[in-house]
Amino acid sequence: MHDIHDATRPATSARLAIHLRHATAKTHQAVERLPLMARLTSPSVTREDYLDYLHALAEVYAALEGSLLDVLDEEIRNDLGVRPKLPAILDDLAEQGQPHIPRTSTQLAPAGSGAALGGLYVLEGATLGGRVIAKHLRRCLGPALGSAGFLDFHGEHSSAAWKRFAGILDSLSAHGRIDPAEVVSGAHTTFALVHRMLEDADARSAPAQAGPEHIEPPGSGARRLATSVAALQED
Ligand code: HEM
Repeated sequence: MHDIHDATRPATSARLAIHLRHATAKTHQAVERLPLMARLTSPSVTREDYLDYLHALAEVYAALEGSLLDVLDEEIRNDLGVRPKLPAILDDLAEQGQPHIPRTSTQLAPAGSGAALGGLYVLEGATLGGRVIAKHLRRCLGPALGSAGFLDFHGEHSSAAWKRFAGILDSLSAHGRIDPAEVVSGAHTTFALVHRMLEDADARSAPAQAGPEHIEPPGSGARRLATSVAALQED
């Protein structure tokens, strides 16, 4: 029997997407607080900050995206209709005259379809928030931003694409085709890995600014996510 206080277990399998949001909110918040990310959302953001972000995300997607998609059952992959995002990141960098040179060819991914789905939730979600960040950068950087094909990956269809993705997650879980606990666990593992990789990238791009991580109390993550939406939309 499920322990109702166990944060890795969805309360009902039909609401997996919502559960994922709450379960990973604290790590999302920790990612947002990394200096690299804080610079990106600051009103004084520079083109160099944007380039640092793209290079860091290129490392993350190169290490995870292909292997996460490979682990998924073909049927689930087709249902999800997820398009790889790494090419868009590399295109954005090339457009800025900054071709990306990968630091490593290591492929990292949690084992099993359910866990891979959780990992994909993390990578897909980055483009959901990305649209908000793209608007902010467009305001601050103007034409120097270029096409921002990664951040604005789904363009005006961003919300529809996310609803579709979340709906399929819910349906796979409701029909017993995936174990929701494995999805949540895969999302946790992947988000923690992304956090570590971005922290490393941060230390490389701005050693003097990288400081120790502070984790806020449980529950504050979801609130902070809501706050960041409001702040970015207002500025
Ligand atoms: C400065 C950095 C970031 C900011 C400001 C940010 C902001 C946001 C915002 C505003 C949303 C909600 C968008 C909406 O509901 O329309 C969101 C969602 C999300 N972001 Fe981020 N994000 C950042 C970085 C990342 C990164 C690096 C990842 C993972 C690689 C990520 C993963 C997600 C996920 C998984 C969601 C979906 C949450 C849900 O289930 O609704 N974010 N982000």
